Amino acid sequence: MFLTIFSIHTIHGDKVINKEDEMGKFITLEGIEGVGKTSNLRFIKELLEGVGHDCVVTREPGGTNLGEALRALLLSHSDDHMSADAELLMMFAARAEHLSKVIRPALENKQTVLCDRFTEATYAYQGGGRLLDVDKISELEQWVQGDLRPDLTVILDAPVEIGRARAGRRSEPDRIEKEHDDFFQRVREAYIELANHYPHRICLIDASLELAAVQKQIREKLIEYDILDQEAVRE
Ligand code: TMP
Repeated sequence: MFLTIFSIHTIHGDKVINKEDEMGKFITLEGIEGVGKTSNLRFIKELLEGVGHDCVVTREPGGTNLGEALRALLLSHSDDHMSADAELLMMFAARAEHLSKVIRPALENKQTVLCDRFTEATYAYQGGGRLLDVDKISELEQWVQGDLRPDLTVILDAPVEIGRARAGRRSEPDRIEKEHDDFFQRVREAYIELANHYPHRICLIDASLELAAVQKQIREKLIEYDILDQEAVRE
C-alpha cells in the first residue's frame, strides 16, 4: 500500500539545495531498531573528522531543549493511545525547532551535520508503520524544510528479526519499540522504497553483515556520494 501511494508522489522530495562551498554537508542515518545506528554514526564521525570535517552530531526527535522534551513525550507510555496525527505533528514540531536552532545554523557555518534520523524516519514510521497518508507527510516536509534535504541518507537495512535479536532487551521498550513485527516490517519496506525512489541521495547498506563489512560499505558510499575524497581515506 505504501508503495502505491509513494510511487505516485514525486513532487517535492528530490531536490537537494545544499550546494558545495555554500553550505556544509548534511548526512542522516536511518534504520529499524538493532541495525547498529549508534556505532556506525560514531564510525562516520571519526572518518569525516579524520579528513578535516567539523562535525555536529545530533538526533531526531531531539537535538534541542524543546525537541528533547517532545522526544520524552513521544517515546513515553504516558499516552499509549496517542493519535497517529498527533505523533506526526510532534515529530515535525521537533524538526522545525531543530532545523532553526541547530541544523541550518551549522550548515550555514559550513559544518557537517550528522543526524541520527530525520524525515525519512517519518516516511518510514508514520507513513509505513502507522499507514498515514504520504501526502500529509510531504506537505509538512515542504512546509518545515522548504527545499532542504539531506545530501546523503544512509539506511542501515536488516531483517526485522535480526534487528530485534541484536537489540536484545536492554531496558523496557519505549512506546514505539513495543510495536509488533508487522509494524517494523512495514517500516523496513518503506525505507527500502525510499532508497529505490531517491537513489541520488539515499543509499541502502546491508547491515545484516558483520560490523567491518558494514563499515566498508559505508566508506564506499561516502566516496560514491562525494562526501569523502577517495584519495583522502585509507582503510
Ligand atoms: P531512536 O532514535 O533512539 O531510535 O528513537 C527514536 C524513535 O522515534 C524510533 O522508534 C523511531 C521514531 N521516529 C519516528 O517514528 N518518526 C520520526 O520522524 C523520527 C525522527 C523518529
